[in-house]
Amino acid sequence: MKTGAGRGLAVAVILAALTGNAQAQQAPIMIKGVAYEYDKDNAQDVMRICAGCHGELGAGGGGGSYPRLGGLNADYLAEQMRKFKSRERENIPMIPFAVDRELSERDVLDVTRFLSEVKLDTKPPANMPSDGYARLQIMKKVLQIPREPGDLEAGKAFYAADCGPCHGRKGEGRLKKPAIAPQHIGYLKVQVANFLSGKRKHDDLEVMQARLPAIWPDKS
Ligand code: HEC
Ligand code: HEC
Repeated sequence: MKTGAGRGLAVAVILAALTGNAQAQQAPIMIKGVAYEYDKDNAQDVMRICAGCHGELGAGGGGGSYPRLGGLNADYLAEQMRKFKSRERENIPMIPFAVDRELSERDVLDVTRFLSEVKLDTKPPANMPSDGYARLQIMKKVLQIPREPGDLEAGKAFYAADCGPCHGRKGEGRLKKPAIAPQHIGYLKVQVANFLSGKRKHDDLEVMQARLPAIWPDKS
């Protein structure tokens, strides 16, 4: 049937399907019976606590002691905060900042949303401004990742086969499978050692156990 009414009906059915989807995606998150709404001011307040270690915009620092948080997936970040709270992921420096009294679920959602929207670079731009303050602002968003000795080709092949399918072809991350390319090598090494020792949980651990020590003997 090619009448106007028929087409109108088809459009209405498609629209209903689309808006139905949109509503399903926008179901509000409830916290203690109150719908959660993102509060950027609160996120920035909370960020002041985190900045001392992770940097003002979550660029990370301390030679890899403090991971980069800016630009990571919000759900991944929030889940890690909950893991620190429940001590499923143990980390002494994070304990005081992960307990409920200090950081409510609302704070967790706000600060992780804020961090996920930060855009960070790993390299300073080629044309740095001459103004000192402007240079400082740019460098705050940059994390310098040192080069490491190792077999780059072997690492590349291993990564493509066993890590890329989850962490992304270039380590850019996929939803709750975190981006690992932007992290400092020192931080990555500590986390891999944590996975291998069972201190932190990781899927398909057998692959890491079988392959990593061989190509990464100084994994500690
Ligand atoms: C006293 C220093 C310190 C402060 C302050 C701090 N952190 Fe951390 N944070 C750390 C350390 C150290 C780690 C690395 C933990 C590890 O090695 O497992 C970490 C790890 C994390 C991770 C895991 C990152 C990943 O890639 O898995 C998240 C998320 C995080 N912190 C969020 C926060 C937030 C949000 C705040 C502010 C409310 C905060 N941290 C305040 C020291 C700190
Ligand atoms: C089946 C999917 C999957 C595969 C394959 C995988 N990962 Fe992961 N990886 C994850 C998930 C999910 C997490 C987050 C774990 C958590 O919630 O604590 C993670 C976390 C990590 C982290 C910690 C990141 C951080 O910010 O703290 C590192 C490092 C890591 N993986 C390295 C690797 C390496 C190296 C390989 C290849 C040997 C690999 N992963 C293969 C799913 C995967």
